[in-house]
Amino acid sequence: MAGRQLKEIFRAFHARDELAFRRAAMEIIEEEQAKHHNALARDLQKLLVAGGGSLDPGSTIVVPAPPKDREGEWDLGEVREPEHLLEDLVLQDAVSLVLENVVEEVRQWPALDAAGLPRRQRLLLQGPPGCGKTTAAEAIAVELGRPLLMVRLDAVVSSYLGETSSNLRRIFEYADQAPFVVLFDEFDALGRSRDDASEHGEMKRVVSAFLQMTDRYRGPSLLLAATNHPALLDEALWRRFDEVLTFGLPTVHQIRQVLRLRLKGVAHSGLEINRYASALKGRPHAAAEKLVIDARRNALLRNSAVVMAQDVDRAMPGITARPW
Ligand SMILES: Nc1ncnc2c1ncn2[C@@H]1O[C@H](COP(=O)(O)OP(=O)(O)O)[C@@H](O)[C@H]1O
Ligand SMILES: [Mg+2]
Repeated sequence: MAGRQLKEIFRAFHARDELAFRRAAMEIIEEEQAKHHNALARDLQKLLVAGGGSLDPGSTIVVPAPPKDREGEWDLGEVREPEHLLEDLVLQDAVSLVLENVVEEVRQWPALDAAGLPRRQRLLLQGPPGCGKTTAAEAIAVELGRPLLMVRLDAVVSSYLGETSSNLRRIFEYADQAPFVVLFDEFDALGRSRDDASEHGEMKRVVSAFLQMTDRYRGPSLLLAATNHPALLDEALWRRFDEVLTFGLPTVHQIRQVLRLRLKGVAHSGLEINRYASALKGRPHAAAEKLVIDARRNALLRNSAVVMAQDVDRAMPGITARPW
């Protein structure tokens, strides 16, 4: 193990510079891997992940600020400590399975690399709004003990020609520095120029630049792209991702599950879950969640600690009337 990396680890510890710490730790792991010290590399990798992603949970962690645009005006991304867990989500079995497998696989990247097997590092999450794409990205980050880098596409997309691609490059360089889960949420917005929707050529160039950067990316982060509008995406685009996960609308049974999950630990009496689930048919998971929140608010406003059928019935019209 090189003295340089050891010094870097000690320095990072004192500076509470988590990114520098992780970078040095990853270098050490990769070096051990290259020496075919596979068991040691795997143990180190596990220890790095098991820490829950922080040097010292009791202290504030310094993650270098995400990059800004050329004028230094806008943050191009936001680092979040994610909170949601995979078990908070009601998903199709096939989707859960892939998510769980990918999480396990990311932990084993050094072993995959050593065996010359390709990583699944680029995932596309697609489906209608309110079915769990953003939340799943957060949950993956929690499971991996990694910070979530939410790319701010509104800041990335610039009206200056060529500037959008440079902004993307800045994001990818940042994601090279340490193991993040990077989320390009609603990334189809890249295809929309800020000023002039008719600039079709520029739009295509930006999306293809994004795909190229995604393709070429060999850094330590897991890259996720999410879209509510799969129809907008080019045919060829799907092939660029290692997995395409569809977050579809819930069945009535799944709506019931979301209602039950969100009512867990909430005092309630006389609720007709089956009826509510049928009434919400065709609407996303988010609608079921909002019904419970609105009903709880109604109960609280009438000074009741217990959610009753009247609270749900008062909330329902608002939920079914709004577009999702
Ligand atoms: N599959 C799901 N199971 C349980 N809750 C969900 C699910 N999908 C979405 N929700 C809830 O709905 C809200 C919006 O979900 P989000 O992940 O932002 O959806 P999307 O990104 O697909 O538009 C969140 O608060 C989340 O808890
Ligand atoms: Mg979303």
